[in-house]
Amino acid sequence: MDERIEDLREKKARAREGGGEERIESQHEKGKMTARERIDYFLDEGTFNEIDQLRTHRSHNFGMEEKQLPGDGVVTGYGEVNGRTVFVFAHDFTVFGGSLGEVFAEKVCKVMDKAMEVGAPVIGLNDSAGARIQEGVDSLAGFGEIFRKNTEASGVIPQISAIMGPCAGGAVYSPALTDFIFMVKDTSHMFITGPDVIETVTGEEVTHDELGGATPHTTDSGVAHFAADDEEQALDDIKRLLSYLPQNNVEDPPRVEPWDDPERRPEALENIVPDQPRKPYDATNVVDEVVDEGSFFEVQAEFAKNIVVGFGRLDGRSVGIVANQPRVNAGTLDIESSEKAARFVRLCDSFNVPIVSFVDVPGFMPGTDQEHNGIIRHGAKLLYAYSEATVPLLTVITRKAYGGAYDVMASKHLGADVNYAWPTAEIAVMGPQGAVNVLYRDELAEADDPDELRDQLIEEYREEFANPYTAADRGYLDDVIEPKDTRARLVDDLEMLTTKRDSLPEKKHGNIPL
Ligand code: COA
Repeated sequence: MDERIEDLREKKARAREGGGEERIESQHEKGKMTARERIDYFLDEGTFNEIDQLRTHRSHNFGMEEKQLPGDGVVTGYGEVNGRTVFVFAHDFTVFGGSLGEVFAEKVCKVMDKAMEVGAPVIGLNDSAGARIQEGVDSLAGFGEIFRKNTEASGVIPQISAIMGPCAGGAVYSPALTDFIFMVKDTSHMFITGPDVIETVTGEEVTHDELGGATPHTTDSGVAHFAADDEEQALDDIKRLLSYLPQNNVEDPPRVEPWDDPERRPEALENIVPDQPRKPYDATNVVDEVVDEGSFFEVQAEFAKNIVVGFGRLDGRSVGIVANQPRVNAGTLDIESSEKAARFVRLCDSFNVPIVSFVDVPGFMPGTDQEHNGIIRHGAKLLYAYSEATVPLLTVITRKAYGGAYDVMASKHLGADVNYAWPTAEIAVMGPQGAVNVLYRDELAEADDPDELRDQLIEEYREEFANPYTAADRGYLDDVIEPKDTRARLVDDLEMLTTKRDSLPEKKHGNIPL
C-alpha cells in the first residue's frame, strides 16, 4: 500500500510541475504567474479541489506520444471566493503553450457542465497559444464544444474571463461569449489574426499591443471590460465583481450588511447639476452620492464614455447603474453607448440585479456617420433591452430627457417601476432651440429682429415644456423629488420591489436587432 501511495504522490507532484522548472521560470520572466499560482491567489485559501489532474492527451501525431504531460495544459476544478463556490479553469502556458486539444477541451467542458448543474459561476483564466496544431480538427471540435456550452450557460450562471497571456484566432470566441472580460496591461493580447498575418495580407504594420492589448480593447473595441495593471489586480477585481452577482439566474444577488445610512440625504446633490442647461457635470458624482458610500464599481469605464454603467449598492442590496454622462458628448446616445448600456441592462436582467438609471440625455447623436453605421439598429438594442427587462427598474431624470431618448432611458412606457425627476428636469420632444426653429420657421424668417424673437420664443417654450410637471401630471413620472431625497426614496422603492413578479410572453427567444 505504502508503495502505491508513494506512486500516487509522485504522479501528482509531477502533474503540479506542469511544463517544468525552465518553462515556469520563463513564465515568471514574462511577468506572468503560472496557472496554479493564479488559482491559489484567486481562491480562498485551501479551498481548491482539482479535477482531472492526471488526464493526458491521446494524440499520436508529430511524435506527441513521446510527450505526455499530466493535466494536458489546463488546471480545472472548483473552490470558493469569499465563501461562495466557483468553478475555475486556468490554461497552463508551460504545457504545450497552453494550446487546446481534445482532452484539454473535455476538461473545460466538464467543469462547465458541473457549474451549470450546481448553479455556480465559471471563471476562465486564459493564457494559451490557441488550437493545438498536432491535434488538428480535434482541437477545433473542442473549441466548438466550449463555444456551445458558453452559449448555453449564458444567462444561467455568470461566466467571467481573464486574459493573462495570448488569446488568438478562434480562441478569442470563448471569452467573447462570456459576461465579462478582464485583461492585463502589457502581458495579454486578443486578436483574430496577429500582426504577422496582417502585414502579409494588408501590408499594415502594427505591434501586438497596439493591435490587441488591454488598452485598445477597453477603449476602442469594447471587447474587454477591465484593464488591470497586473494579474493580482485583475483577480482582485473579479472577486469584487462576483460580490455583486448571484450564483445563478434563479438566485438573487447577496445582500451585504449595510454600512451607510439609508436615510442619508446628501445636500451635495443639490449642487451637482448646473443651472445652465448646456453646462456639463460628471454623472458619477451623482451616482456616488446616491449609492452606499464607496460601493460604485464602474464597468467599461474607458469605452463609450458618454454613458456610465456599473454596479453599486443601496442599503446593502446590489443594483446595476446606467447613467448618461453629460461630460462626454453632452451625454448623447450613439452606437457604442447604446450597445454598451444594452448589454449591461441584459446582464443585470439575466441575474436579477435591479437597475437604477440616471437620465440626462439631449437625444441621439446626429450625423451621417452615425446614421450610416446603423444608429437605428444599434439604438434599438437599448430600447429592446430595457423593454424586455423584468427586474425592478428605477429611473431618475436629473436634467434633459428629450425625444426618443426619453423613451429609451427606462421610461415608464417601457415598463419602469419607479420614475422620478428632479425639479431641474426638462422633458419634451426636443430642446428649446430646435423646437422653436421648427415651430416658428415662417415667423422667424419674416421677423425684423429674428434673434430677439427667437430668444423670446425659446424662453416661452422653456417655461411651457422644459420642465417635469407635464410628465408628472400625466403619471409618466411617479413624483418630482428634491435631489437630496433620491437615495432614501430609492432605498424604500427597492425594498418594496424585492417581491416584484413579472414575466414575458412565452417564446423561444426574442429577435433583438443585432
Ligand atoms: N499548438 C501546439 N503547440 C504550440 C502552439 C500550438 N498552437 N503554439 C505554441 N506551441 C508550443 C510551442 O511549440 C512551444 O513549445 P516548447 O515549449 O515545447 O518549445 C510552446 O508552445 C511555447 O510557445 P512559444 O512560441 O515558445 O511561446 P511564445 O511566448 O514565444 O509565443 C505565441 C506564444 C502564442 C505568440 C506563439 O506560440 C504562437 O504564435 N503560436 C501559434 C498561435 C496560433 O496560431 N494558434 C492557432 C490559433 S487558433
